[in-house]
Amino acid sequence: MRRSRILGVGSYLPERVVTNHDLEQWMDTTDEWIQQRSGIRERHFAAADQATSDLGLIAARRALEAADLAPESIDFIVFATSTSDYLVPGSGCFLQHKLGIGPVGALDVRAQCSGFLYALSVADLYVRAGEYDRVLVVGAEVQSAGLDLSDAGRDTAVLFADGAGAVVLGVSDDPERGLLGHRLHADGRFADALAIPAPGTVNRPFIGPEHLEQRRHRLQMDGRLVFKNAVETMPAAVREVADHCGVLVSDLALVIPHQANTRIIDALAGALHLPTERVVNNIAYTGNTTAATIPIALDQVVRDGRLKTGDLLALVAFGSGFTWAASLIRW
Ligand SMILES: CC(C)(COP(=O)(O)OP(=O)(O)OC[C@H]1O[C@@H](n2cnc3c(N)ncnc32)[C@H](O)[C@@H]1OP(=O)(O)O)[C@@H](O)C(=O)NCCC(=O)NCCS
Repeated sequence: MRRSRILGVGSYLPERVVTNHDLEQWMDTTDEWIQQRSGIRERHFAAADQATSDLGLIAARRALEAADLAPESIDFIVFATSTSDYLVPGSGCFLQHKLGIGPVGALDVRAQCSGFLYALSVADLYVRAGEYDRVLVVGAEVQSAGLDLSDAGRDTAVLFADGAGAVVLGVSDDPERGLLGHRLHADGRFADALAIPAPGTVNRPFIGPEHLEQRRHRLQMDGRLVFKNAVETMPAAVREVADHCGVLVSDLALVIPHQANTRIIDALAGALHLPTERVVNNIAYTGNTTAATIPIALDQVVRDGRLKTGDLLALVAFGSGFTWAASLIRW
């Protein structure tokens, strides 16, 4: 069976930077509280006329440029987001149109913070099976559109942010290099622990004034439960994917974890007995961009030369669902 490889990576962070001090003006919070609990100093918010597919478009064009490929060379799109342009259809269709390419398939993946890895695994299987030669995989979010930037929303509004990352997945010309494997998990018992219940078909209608009043259209989060599960499942997923692919965790040159919280990232490094320099952490300047954190961080380490040909790289995520996942790549 053939192997797939990442041919190009790109990312985009919107121009507007929102610091913790800006948030202090809008809600009862402090820079100190935010930094101490999450490690975040600032984040990017999209402009009012930028939807999720607009961010994804810029990241996708940059990934195509890095791969030296034209948009027309894309055979299929997998778009991971939890903040779609519309409820229906998915952002992948908007992106396909904005890229100006033919009627290639566009699949949205809804696995929230694990979305990019779920999307990557789907794209990998299409390429390995010989179904498609080049698949565009995008993780993009405009979380700011749904955040409650008042006191009532402070428990989540200080954490989430906007951004996009994309990769072009293609056929590897070197059997040693490329995507080695994935492990995906979900535990729906915890679906309510990190959720936006409206609009949704648990409600009649989808959404009404009472849902707005009850704040059911805002992200509901049991922060402590999320934290506890993230620090248990993320290291386990890295070990599992390493075992699955027959490599040692100690051989990992870099781990790119989902950027939810510096304390979770540090706990992951500790549990894997890896020095913190080998576990990528950019959350101070990006916040939690949900499905976009991993491809944004990947783009940064590729562009600044931290990732070298032949390096063993693990990607690992945890999020709403609960879902969690890990992927292994020989770069
Ligand atoms: C959310 C999180 C940072 C909260 O940290 P914590 O140490 O658990 O905080 P606690 O719940 O103990 O304390 C919260 C206190 O701070 C207050 N608080 C909440 N948000 C605040 C804010 N933005 N600014 C200041 N105070 C805040 C709460 O009201 C509470 O006050 P109380 O003790 O008077 O009731 C932490 O649980 C966490 O990181 N969880 C994981 C979240 C995550 O990663 N989500 C995305 C996953 S993909």
